[in-house]
Amino acid sequence: MVRKKVTSDVEHGDTQLDDELPVNSDIEQGDELLEEAPKTDVTANPESEQTNEPKPKKTRVIIPKREITIILDGGRSRIKVLLIVDGQVTSNLVIDSVVCQVDSPPFGELGVFSMSRGKGEDKKDVVEHWVVGSSAKLQGKPFVAMSDGENHKVDYFPILALGAIASLPNLHDLSTGSNEKSRSLSIKLITLSLANPLNLKAGLGACKWMKVDGIKYSLSFSKTALNYPEGYGAALFSQDKGSTVYTLDVGFGTACVSQYNNQGKLPKRVSHKPNGGGGISTLIREFAESVANGDSSRLIKPSQLREILESSTFEDGRVNAIAPDGREIGTALEVAIKNWIRDTPLTFALESLSTAGRKNPIVLCGGGFEVPAVQHLVKEALAESSIPLDNLVFPPNPGLIALSEMTKIYTQANV
Ligand SMILES: Nc1ncnc2c1ncn2[C@@H]1O[C@H](COP(=O)(O)OP(=O)(O)OP(=O)(O)O)[C@@H](O)[C@H]1O
Ligand SMILES: [Mg+2]
Repeated sequence: MVRKKVTSDVEHGDTQLDDELPVNSDIEQGDELLEEAPKTDVTANPESEQTNEPKPKKTRVIIPKREITIILDGGRSRIKVLLIVDGQVTSNLVIDSVVCQVDSPPFGELGVFSMSRGKGEDKKDVVEHWVVGSSAKLQGKPFVAMSDGENHKVDYFPILALGAIASLPNLHDLSTGSNEKSRSLSIKLITLSLANPLNLKAGLGACKWMKVDGIKYSLSFSKTALNYPEGYGAALFSQDKGSTVYTLDVGFGTACVSQYNNQGKLPKRVSHKPNGGGGISTLIREFAESVANGDSSRLIKPSQLREILESSTFEDGRVNAIAPDGREIGTALEVAIKNWIRDTPLTFALESLSTAGRKNPIVLCGGGFEVPAVQHLVKEALAESSIPLDNLVFPPNPGLIALSEMTKIYTQANV
C-alpha cells in the first residue's frame, strides 16, 4: 500500500511525496490517499500474468482531511478554549496561564508536550519539553506566569496554544493517519487577542510537530483562520441590544473598553482602550493593603488573596470573605474594591463609559465580573454616574462569554 498526501497547497506539517497525483475533483488538500495494490486472483486464472489481459485498476481510498476548530482566548490568568468538531462544541477548557520548561516530559500530568521549532547545527530538531497549566507549578523548577510580564502572553503564545491542544482529552481521536505513533493534526486556530495576529501565528508556524503521551502529531494550521478582537464574543452577545454597544472587559491585567457597531451581519469594533492595570491584579494589590492596614503581621500572600477574592460572596448588601486563619475580611475587600474603582486605571475605564452609557448599552464581561462583589459595586458606581440600569447588561457567564458566544459563528448552522 502506498501512502500519499495531497499537496497542491502544502502547509507546514504536511509530508510532500514526489508522485504526481491524478486530477480528481473529490480530493482536497490535506486529504490522505491510500493506494492498494491490485488484487489479482491468481488461482482463478494462473496464466493471467502472462497473457495480455488488461490489469485490474488500483483501488484508491481517500481518507478526508479532518480539520478541527479551536477557539482560543489566551488571557493573562486563564487560557479559555473551545473545541469544535464537525460543527459541534465537544470540549471546553479553562487552563491556568502558567508554563514551565522541563528537561523531560513528565508522564501522567495534564498539559505536557514536546515540540521543536528549529534545527541545531547538526541539522536535527532541537526538542523542547513543556508543561502548561496548573501542573506547571508542580515541576520543582521556576515556572512562568503570563501575569508576570507585560508581553508574556504574546511571547509565550505558541507554548500556550500547544499546551491547550495537549490538554484536549481526546487528541488521538482528533488526528488522522494509519500509523498509531505518528499522526497528523489539522487545526483551524481562531484566536481572540489584542496582539497582532501575524506575530502570534509566526511563532506557532515554526512548530512543525508536537509529541503528547508518546504520539507524534505533525501540525498543520489552516492559513484562513481568523483573529478576532479580544472580547469579541461579548459583542456578539450584544448584537440585538442596539446599533452601538460598548463592552467593558475586566480581566486580570486590563479593563478594556470597546465600542462596537452592530449594524451589519457581524459586530465591527469601532474603538478600543485597554486601560492596562485596571484589572483584577490591581484589585489584589489594593486588597493586600486594606487587609494589612498598617499591620504587617496580617499580610496574606497575593495568590491566597486571589483565591479569597474568587470565593467571596455578596449577600444582603454585605461582602463576605474569609482569610486563611478564619478571620472575616469582607470589609477589607469592600474597601479594596471601592479604592480600585476610585483610583486606578479602572477609574478611567468607568469615566469613559459614563457619557456613552447614558445612551448606549454596556456589556459587562471578563472574569472580574464573576466576583459578585465586583459586579455589585461596579454597577453601583456606573449607576451613580447617571447611567440607566437598563443600559447595563450582565451576561449569565461573564468570564466565558467572550469565547462561548463565538459558537454563533463556528457551530453547525454557521460553518
Ligand atoms: N468563575 C470565577 N469565579 C471567581 N473569579 C473568577 C472567575 N473567573 C475568573 N475570575 C477572576 O477574574 C480574573 C480575570 O479573569 P479573566 O479570565 O477575564 O482574565 P484573563 O483573560 O486571563 O486576563 P486578561 O484579559 O487581562 O489577559 C481571574 O484572574 C480571576 O481572579
Ligand atoms: Mg481576557
